Amino acid sequence: MKILVLNGPNLNLLGTRQPEIYGRTSLADIEARLRARAAELGVELDFRQSNHEGQLVDWIQAARGTVHAIVLNAAAYTHTSVALRDAITAVELPVVEVHLSNIHAREEFRHRSLIAAVCRGQICGFGPESYRLGLEAAVSLASAS
Ligand code: DQA
Repeated sequence: MKILVLNGPNLNLLGTRQPEIYGRTSLADIEARLRARAAELGVELDFRQSNHEGQLVDWIQAARGTVHAIVLNAAAYTHTSVALRDAITAVELPVVEVHLSNIHAREEFRHRSLIAAVCRGQICGFGPESYRLGLEAAVSLASAS
């Protein structure tokens, strides 16, 4: 089983970016932890980050037929991107939305996720653990389908 983990804009700065909100764990550390968990679960991981909306759309489109599920931290595009939402709908793969922070406890503009309704579920507020929970949910959804 193969799971695609996609990270949106500014997540490459994790570790130094607003540590009071996002913590001090870098994206490379999150990836390493996730790879360890993936190995325990016996699943293959493809882990990527882009600051560009179109690149994320391209990766979601290419996932069809090549991966079994997607874990997506769309970062700021969560709140703005109809293009990401349409791509998720088009590929008909289980997608788990994840966020490090609790977006519902932050500024009002972060409360709305344009992708939530087309994802299978949302995990937010657990820091790097959101990714582990997201991976476990994705594996469970992919196993069931
Ligand atoms: C985020 C939350 C978003 O609102 C924000 O734009 C991010 C990160 C999170 O993981 O908590 O860049 O997706």
